[in-house]
Amino acid sequence: MSKNVLVLPGDGIGPEIVAEAVKVLEALGTDIQLEHGLVGGAAIDATGGPLPEETMAKARDCDAILLGAVGGPKWEPLDIAIRPEKGLLGLRAGLELFANLRPAILYRQLADASTLKAEVVSDLDLMIVRELTGGIYFGQPRGVRTLDNGERQGYNTLVYSESEIRRIGHVAFQTAQKRDKRVCSVDKANVLECTELWRQVMEEVAKEYPNVQLSHMYVDNAAMQLVRAPKQFDVMVTTNMFGDILSDCAAMLTGSIGMLPSASLDKNGKGMYEPIHGSAPDIAGKGVANPIATVLSVSMMLRYSLNESEAAQRVDDAVVRVLDQGLRTADIYSAGTEKVSTSQMGDAIVAAL
Ligand code: IPM
Ligand code: MG
Repeated sequence: MSKNVLVLPGDGIGPEIVAEAVKVLEALGTDIQLEHGLVGGAAIDATGGPLPEETMAKARDCDAILLGAVGGPKWEPLDIAIRPEKGLLGLRAGLELFANLRPAILYRQLADASTLKAEVVSDLDLMIVRELTGGIYFGQPRGVRTLDNGERQGYNTLVYSESEIRRIGHVAFQTAQKRDKRVCSVDKANVLECTELWRQVMEEVAKEYPNVQLSHMYVDNAAMQLVRAPKQFDVMVTTNMFGDILSDCAAMLTGSIGMLPSASLDKNGKGMYEPIHGSAPDIAGKGVANPIATVLSVSMMLRYSLNESEAAQRVDDAVVRVLDQGLRTADIYSAGTEKVSTSQMGDAIVAAL
């Protein structure tokens, strides 16, 4: 039976980069049907809300989702409850995509594009496993209230139940089993009770994986270690907000946030795939965005949700080939390489397949 992929380009550079990724997907000649939908600001403009019921229904029915990016200055004045980002968070929560895999791999060809010394980052290959449907992003109560003295007070709640910690723990340990068999759990257990529980539950889960080594690190130290000696990490597992922050940090180690894909999976392996970068409204429509993170998200989709690992490998190899050819979008350009546009990069990857 053919598989269905829902394509949600979103806002800013989203439509440009997704168009290139779709080109690559179609060039593979696999039996995959594409459907399109609206999310984020594009959906607000068309329907009044960031996640129309029609999009949600298609998202429930499909086998996998390819998403570009959401958000932009145009929608910033809106109430936080109906901003474009709520479309993304609604998909994650509504589909229970609790496991977010964010690999940070440094391509040899881009060692000079990193702001860190080549020897610190060469051959970097780490995986951040971010909890995606819980924590402070979703905790209740939340809001801004006015106190008796007339002062406004903002508040959010960091909350994790044991089962939420346990299930992301299993994903991290199983991921590590296929890699270098080391998990570093990142928390703030010295200050936050919630992450003290996180640490205890990770210890419990670790007992089921005797061949995987577990260590713990406070998040402030983890941020420092990521830029000091990132190669010490294999798999990092952490909360929703810490994972958001650390994955941007890890991205920069690889030279550009425009290189990093992600997978957000439910318990059955159904997933949503997106570049980890945002909608970059400042460069939208200029044809300069790097489509590689989105193309590599297609590769993750083929591998994790569509059972097409051979096609995934072809995509990964094609990306390496264009980098070998010296083709670079502006974000990864350096002297001696050839600067190409978003669509030229997409065409080159298709040609390299
Ligand atoms: C990410 C993004 C999102 C997040 C935003 C756009 C809501 O930063 O996917 O990392 O915070 O999760
Ligand atoms: Mg982020």
